[in-house]
Amino acid sequence: MSFPTIRLRRLRTTPNLRAMVRETTLSPRNFIYPLFVMHGADIHREIPSMPGVYHQSIDRLAAEVADVSELGIPAVILFGVPAAKDPIGEENFADNGIVQQAIRAIKAANPDLLVMTDVCLCEYTDHGHCGIVSGGEILNDETLAILGQVAVSHAQAGADVVAPSGMMDGMIAAIRGALDAANFKHTGIMSYAVKYASGFYGPFRDAAMSAPAFGDRRTHQMDPANTREAMREAQLDVDEGADMLMVKPALAYLDVIQRVRDRFDLPVAAYNVSGEYSMIKAAAANGWLDERTVALEMLTAIRRAGADMILTYYAKDAARWLREM
Ligand code: PBG
Repeated sequence: MSFPTIRLRRLRTTPNLRAMVRETTLSPRNFIYPLFVMHGADIHREIPSMPGVYHQSIDRLAAEVADVSELGIPAVILFGVPAAKDPIGEENFADNGIVQQAIRAIKAANPDLLVMTDVCLCEYTDHGHCGIVSGGEILNDETLAILGQVAVSHAQAGADVVAPSGMMDGMIAAIRGALDAANFKHTGIMSYAVKYASGFYGPFRDAAMSAPAFGDRRTHQMDPANTREAMREAQLDVDEGADMLMVKPALAYLDVIQRVRDRFDLPVAAYNVSGEYSMIKAAAANGWLDERTVALEMLTAIRRAGADMILTYYAKDAARWLREM
């Protein structure tokens, strides 16, 4: 049977009909909202390359997370700007480090909100690399012990989930081992399992002040041309004990999200990264596209590809827009 008996336009005639046959849902419950925390008092400073995203001091966090949970967003992920940087990033695993303070402040204000933390060296090291550097090389195995220490210090402060983003080989096993040894058996690991060496991180590196001082990240982050290799990355992290898998970036890698979804049974997250956010912001500011339509379309597409969760700077705006619909 075919046209004219079959008419696909029939199911598109009214809003209610369209809503009933919609295959993909988008809800604030799907979002993880990134926060950039820094030392100081009463700081709420917009990041120039990411309009609507702010550097915030600890004293602003209670109000921020009240907003986030009122909007129905279940989780935040924290990124810290340290007071000082050094070759190994001492503040990264300090008990009074910026992220450790932020975790405690958020848990004190709202114990139910899920607190996730980015676990990496690049924001804390003076060279801006994701591992210990020696002779211009990023050392893998020497970095693993530090990642374990960072994860344990976040768990100690009250983090629910740690999210290692440095793409070091063996990082999930090292972190699981360190957490278990410190008796944090219930602290989860969301692995940035499939993370590409992407130009879309540009605005974030301004925000986190984490651009590498020399070279780039191509010796550890993945080549954007590869997808079979993504399956190997994800498989290793599953074998090492990851609880959730992430693909990053999202928009230019929807095929990768779909492959990871199809192949693995773990929850899948996708990181709708800074460049994806700022592109829309810039175009919208110029009047070149409609921000709300495009942002919701992008987030729906990431869900359609198979992501259960989306880390997105649009979380609060999208939650408001969805409420109005
Ligand atoms: C590394 C990290 C990065 C992002 C999240 N974690 C940057 C990088 O790998 O250079 C990027 C997020 C974004 O662009 O929104 N700690």
